Amino acid sequence: MRILIKNIKTLVQVDDGSRLKVCGADMQLLPCLDNAWVAIEGGLIADYGRMDDFPGVSDWDRLTVIDATGKCVFPSWCDSHTHLVFAGSREGEFADRLKGLSYEQIALRGGGILNSAGKLRNASEEELIQSALLRLNEIMFQGTGAVEIKSGYGLTLESELKMLRVIKKLKAVSSLTIKATFLGAHAVPLEYKNNKNKYIDLIVHEMLPRIADEKLAEYCDVFCEKNYFSKSETIRILEAGINVGLKTKVHAEQMSNSGGVEAGVHCKAISVDHLEYVEGKDIDLLKYSDTMPVVLPGAQFFLQLPNPPVRQMIDSGLPVAIASDFNPGSSPTGNMNLMQSLACILYRMTPEEVINASTLNTAYAMELSATHGSIAVGKKANIFITQEIPGYSFLSYAFGSNLIETVILNGEIKNRKNQLWKD
Ligand code: NIG
Ligand code: FE
Repeated sequence: MRILIKNIKTLVQVDDGSRLKVCGADMQLLPCLDNAWVAIEGGLIADYGRMDDFPGVSDWDRLTVIDATGKCVFPSWCDSHTHLVFAGSREGEFADRLKGLSYEQIALRGGGILNSAGKLRNASEEELIQSALLRLNEIMFQGTGAVEIKSGYGLTLESELKMLRVIKKLKAVSSLTIKATFLGAHAVPLEYKNNKNKYIDLIVHEMLPRIADEKLAEYCDVFCEKNYFSKSETIRILEAGINVGLKTKVHAEQMSNSGGVEAGVHCKAISVDHLEYVEGKDIDLLKYSDTMPVVLPGAQFFLQLPNPPVRQMIDSGLPVAIASDFNPGSSPTGNMNLMQSLACILYRMTPEEVINASTLNTAYAMELSATHGSIAVGKKANIFITQEIPGYSFLSYAFGSNLIETVILNGEIKNRKNQLWKD
């Protein structure tokens, strides 16, 4: 399909494709073109420019032309942290928390992640695929074009493999670009409560080799937290992942300062995520690493945790990325636009910063920034067109509205009806 989008009010986040991430004060800079056009061919961005310099088209018959007068065009959001394969839901725990129980208390009585693990064990691969496709379909029309999905509600060899095979199937049938992460170390199953090392042995000696053999994941992640996995346990698991060819990610400093950033930087993690309890020592370590700090405002807001020190991180020159953490326990939405509004309101990030944080920086956190995250010639044509809006800041301002009118993935216009599958 060849597409020309013309008369674009503002073409947002344009570059030459050489920027892999945006750091510190540069996060305030959002390169845009007003009164622009963009051309798409063969699933890629073929060219773009200002209407004043539009070179013209020779064979109009093979071309779909979209007039975007008054509308903005963005590169699709990249969401680098989700758990969007799950069975059932946990609104009962939500109600319990409203009555005063903490996330920790619910987890200690066998709820939380273990609740979802119990539900997932009883679900078939087909059921998990169908429910995940509905979620992928929902986030696709909220502007997401690339997403990372974690396992971690299996917690047995069979169930973890089941989750990862589901993600593999989703990669094959969905229009979104998908990366898979193995998160066997998401919680300690009840049967290993008094013998955590035995569960870690299972991860290291049985789960990781099988996952590597079947090529089921790109990354290995660990929930480094009190009552979950310590810093040294995290390093042991991540190093075992590295040994079988998986790069690393960490759920770090979400509920306490537990050494997750230290473990992540030690293992050259692609990203460390959450960061509510990050300290100055962690920021110093991150400054001399290639690890992307990712904040998850949905989970932080939903669990009413303290704000991560985002301004301090950006002022220290760090990049910051924003992801949804879509999961049934701490962030039951994958709406990246809402994440950006929350980050503006709660962390005082600017609209320019949250757009950089949700495009190039989350693409970096999935090792996709060479092909995703900006409007650049040769990058994948994953873009969306808004309704008529006053300007790009309107998206993070108008929280709660979906202002996206047209979604294009892999150079194809997506139809809101019946888009569960690729074509
Ligand atoms: O990222 N922090 C750990 N894991 C998830 C929550 C998972 C759950 O409660 O089901 C998170 O917030
Ligand atoms: Fe998470």
